[in-house]
Amino acid sequence: MVGVDVSAVRITTAVPEDVPAIALLLEETWCATYPNVAEGITHQDVAVYAKKFTDPEHLAVLRALIGDHRESRQFFVARNERGQIVGYCRAMHAKSGHDRVRAIYVRRDYWQNGVGAQLMTAALNWLGGEREVWIDCVRYNQRAIAFYKKFGFVLQGPIDFSLKLASGSEIHEVRLIKPPIQ
Ligand SMILES: CC(C)(COP(=O)(O)OP(=O)(O)OC[C@H]1O[C@@H](n2cnc3c(N)ncnc32)[C@H](O)[C@@H]1OP(=O)(O)O)[C@@H](O)C(=O)NCCC(=O)NCCS
Repeated sequence: MVGVDVSAVRITTAVPEDVPAIALLLEETWCATYPNVAEGITHQDVAVYAKKFTDPEHLAVLRALIGDHRESRQFFVARNERGQIVGYCRAMHAKSGHDRVRAIYVRRDYWQNGVGAQLMTAALNWLGGEREVWIDCVRYNQRAIAFYKKFGFVLQGPIDFSLKLASGSEIHEVRLIKPPIQ
């Protein structure tokens, strides 16, 4: 893509100082991803919801999570040659016996350049592959579902969870599971 040098993108673990940039990335990427005419999800609805990522309250929660090092979770960021955060994801060992990858987000102008794959590889390597890895994903997010399938995730079907937006519209999710490495 013109103006984007993906060869210089590097994955590191996140630090609390990264939080404002991560929050902005989440807000922008939500607005680029989730509006959907067929599902009745408007840009306005998503924009209102995504604003919460940059709220001081959310920033404080994320800063505390990232700063509170635990063996059960890790946060990864992708940085470009200028040190800007262009990708983010979170991996965790859940208490109930499986692992999870959550919130994998790449900046819109970096999509389809392998940054998501670098983040996913870092997360899966960190998790270790001994347990199932679960991912919950918006049901109409075909880009992400295709991406997860490339990594061996298998679509299970709808889950009993939906996100209610200000207008009353709901975003429904599906679950994908990657089996343990034998
Ligand atoms: C989903 C997302 C993380 C993927 O990251 P990305 O950097 O665009 O993906 P990559 O360029 O690393 O693609 C990795 C692989 O998936 C493939 N892929 C990516 N998008 C695809 C698509 N739409 N259809 C089929 N394959 C696709 C690539 O071809 C590549 O495969 P390859 O290595 O065999 O060539 C990114 O598009 C994104 O942030 N989307 C918006 C946020 C989002 O939906 N997050 C998921 C929340 S559950």
